[in-house]
Amino acid sequence: MERSLQIRFGSRFLKKIDLVRQTNQQIAFLTQALGGPMIYKGSDMKKAHARFAIQQQHFNAVAAHLQATLQSLNVPDSLIGKVLQTVEPLAPSIVNTPDHN
Ligand code: HEM
Repeated sequence: MERSLQIRFGSRFLKKIDLVRQTNQQIAFLTQALGGPMIYKGSDMKKAHARFAIQQQHFNAVAAHLQATLQSLNVPDSLIGKVLQTVEPLAPSIVNTPDHN
């Protein structure tokens, strides 16, 4: 998961950050967002992403990547649907730059 995200975005977003820490934070965030234990201690989504110029196409790519990862782990489609429904409303907090190529 980390490797293919790195390939897709190259050095654009992921050069200066700790991927292991970020992955752990994302797991904690999603666990909590889906009704699991309250273990996410990171900042809110707007603040966490403010220093990156994130376009809607980047958000879509991450959501598609999340979906593909869950599919590859044989997570049932109904549950994958729930995960995607949980992340979709976050787009306005995370996307902060108009789409351009
Ligand atoms: C599916 C929607 C997304 C969710 C649920 C999500 C969730 C998170 C979470 C929980 C963190 C950790 C924040 C913290 O440590 O305080 C984070 C950090 C980060 N996210 Fe996202 N994110 C999403 C989309 C994106 C997109 C589209 C990009 C850019 C392509 C992105 C790039 C990053 C980066 C670079 C960090 C590291 C920030 C840092 O270490 O300062 N994220 N994300």
